Amino acid sequence: MKNNQKQEKDWGKMAENFDKISEYVVGKEIYQIICKKLSKEKNLGEAIEFGCGTGYFTKAIAMNAEYIIAADVSEEMLDAAKRQLKEYKNIKFEIADCKAATFPDKEFDTVLMVNLLHVIKEPHKALEESYRILKDGGLLITIDLTGYGMKKFEMLKLVFRFLRKMGRPPKADKGNLSPTYLETLAENAGFEVEENKLLGDKDKIKALYFKGIKR
Ligand SMILES: C[S@@+](CC[C@H](N)C(=O)[O-])C[C@H]1O[C@@H](n2cnc3c(N)ncnc32)[C@H](O)[C@@H]1O
Repeated sequence: MKNNQKQEKDWGKMAENFDKISEYVVGKEIYQIICKKLSKEKNLGEAIEFGCGTGYFTKAIAMNAEYIIAADVSEEMLDAAKRQLKEYKNIKFEIADCKAATFPDKEFDTVLMVNLLHVIKEPHKALEESYRILKDGGLLITIDLTGYGMKKFEMLKLVFRFLRKMGRPPKADKGNLSPTYLETLAENAGFEVEENKLLGDKDKIKALYFKGIKR
């Protein structure tokens, strides 16, 4: 990887235990809620997931896409994903940067990003790049855990668990990503909003589930 693509936080260092650590930090319940909703997305066609990590959420869409490119900037994460997803014959693995991918224009029916936009600098670039590589009418799904609207005490406990297991968050971390902020970013990139909602318990950590269409 070139210096100018240096990772903002080396998530790869956690690849071996990433799923366990994440479930400890945010709780299994919200992950189950996300997987349940994501697995209901049908006819995803030719799909790419940026920031696939260990492939935890890739599994949820695997049966509903013709093929998926599971992409990440971290080789360690991709290796973990390859191990976890080895029985899925329609998943290919690639090192790719969501802000500067080398895929041609209008290549995919679906772009998925889970817990990526809120951890990277310049998330608008990832949305613009997604727009470029989507076919007309293509679907963008972004899902981000957020402390938006969370009870202060719950937030403090979560921050403590995060620091304990994951260390300092990336500088660009937007832990309180709001539906309005995301909607504006996506609209500025050209997307028409199809769905934009918070999933999960009202006082606890939530997931911002966003769907946009390339018109
Ligand atoms: C917070 S983790 C989320 C992993 C997975 N999506 C999940 O929710 O379990 C962020 C992931 O995005 C990857 N990543 C960070 N910057 C990226 C970029 N610019 N392009 C693609 N992947 C990136 C990291 O290596 C890491 O695997």
